[in-house]
Amino acid sequence: MSIRLGVLASGRGSNFLAILRSIENGELDAELCLLISDREHAPVLEIARQRGIPAWHVSYSRKDRQAFELEVAALLDYHACDLVILAGFMRLVTPWLIQRFPRRILNIHPSLLPAFKGLKAQAQALAYGVKISGCTVHIVNDELDGGPIIAQKAVEVRSDDTVESLSARILVEEHRLYPEAIRQYSETYSKAQMMA
Ligand code: GRF
Repeated sequence: MSIRLGVLASGRGSNFLAILRSIENGELDAELCLLISDREHAPVLEIARQRGIPAWHVSYSRKDRQAFELEVAALLDYHACDLVILAGFMRLVTPWLIQRFPRRILNIHPSLLPAFKGLKAQAQALAYGVKISGCTVHIVNDELDGGPIIAQKAVEVRSDDTVESLSARILVEEHRLYPEAIRQYSETYSKAQMMA
């Protein structure tokens, strides 16, 4: 049985689309059951709607994160999602949601963690002067961009790189890495389900 994915995203949705394409072309045995965005006009909502994937805007208020997460959890439950995928979701997930879906939330980050956590990871890498950066898919825990690493891909930093050029090359690798990491995760997950 293929793993059921619920995606949280805030913006353009290129990782969402990469996951969708790898499902469509048979590389990833999964089902995209739900897309939730905290931004009403995020392009990712349109991508999902055009493909007939249930797509919801849930409004987010920093003062009432619990209300946001209650609604998110209810939607994830309703659509029977096995795994929660953060794909450019620009909000912090609270320990409440993490406990609600223990070891079942994945995130992608545009650096080789544990280096350059947080925002603007590509700019941080350039400012530090590293020669290699990349991207990481990890399980979400209570620590920002922490949690067990599932997969990583290195990307060379060139001497003439700008934030834009480095981000673009890392993004190409993100699009390969995320579907592959979900595939790896779901194989382990299915085995654990079978043994339970
Ligand atoms: C990606 O670089 C991802 O690593 C970061 O946010 C960006 C999202 O891009 N967390 P997109 O919305 O998937 O195009």
